[in-house]
Amino acid sequence: MKDVSNNKTALVELKDLNKMFFTDEVETNALSNINLAIYEGEYLSITGPSGCGKSTLLSLLGLLDTPTSGLYKLAGHNASNINQDERARIRNKEIGFIFQSFNLISDLTVAENIELPLTYRTDLTKNQRQDMVLSSLEKVDLAHRANHYPSQLSGGQQQRVAVARAIGGKPAIILADEPTGNLDSKNAESVMALLDELHQDGATICMVTHDPVFAARTQRIIEVFDGRVVSDERITEMPAIAV
Ligand SMILES: Nc1ncnc2c1ncn2[C@@H]1O[C@H](COP(=O)(O)OP(=O)(O)O)[C@@H](O)[C@H]1O
Ligand SMILES: [Mg+2]
Repeated sequence: MKDVSNNKTALVELKDLNKMFFTDEVETNALSNINLAIYEGEYLSITGPSGCGKSTLLSLLGLLDTPTSGLYKLAGHNASNINQDERARIRNKEIGFIFQSFNLISDLTVAENIELPLTYRTDLTKNQRQDMVLSSLEKVDLAHRANHYPSQLSGGQQQRVAVARAIGGKPAIILADEPTGNLDSKNAESVMALLDELHQDGATICMVTHDPVFAARTQRIIEVFDGRVVSDERITEMPAIAV
């Protein structure tokens, strides 16, 4: 692959990463020999058929799971060799997740859902947390719904709350697993437009999607098949270094 990094340091770096699952007698080689570098400001998609390992790859990137072997570096931390507490701390600070099924907590309000992950951050005061909640709600155009409960919102609005929660702590990278998978086309478009806008503002976004139309909106498409990266194509130049 052509070196397009302009000698920048990768935000995320995977080297010879493998993931096996052992269930009963069955051994699944979910990911084999993944080598991947993601740079600050990139907007990329991971595509491939069902069962090819997309979600497993995103879980490893998001420190939700550990590789069977290989190296993982995130924002300068060696993430393959750290204890549970440190993993949780890095995950909470550096990673924003968006899931297909929104994963909001139904008996917390919109604002409380967004604030919840920030309450684990010892580096933030209550005031700072509230400012972060408000500014991320404004970003997704839902400040007027701050005191609503998830069930009072449409699917598209719930996913926008999930986006606000993901960006609330100003993470180094946003990971989205089929973020439009549970939405009709109009709501899917509003969530995609929001991701496009976050990217314009400089966010690093890695999105799993099996929809080629959504993948084509990103700037780099990584195709996974049978647990291996089979193609990695940058559609546009690397983003300029943010100053
Ligand atoms: N927790 C698990 N235990 C056992 N096998 C798993 C587990 N998670 C995923 N797998 C298997 O790993 C493979 C990749 O799964 P996954 O990453 O979910 O695929 P995708 O997201 O591309 O549909 C599949 O064969 C799946 O059955
Ligand atoms: Mg999946």
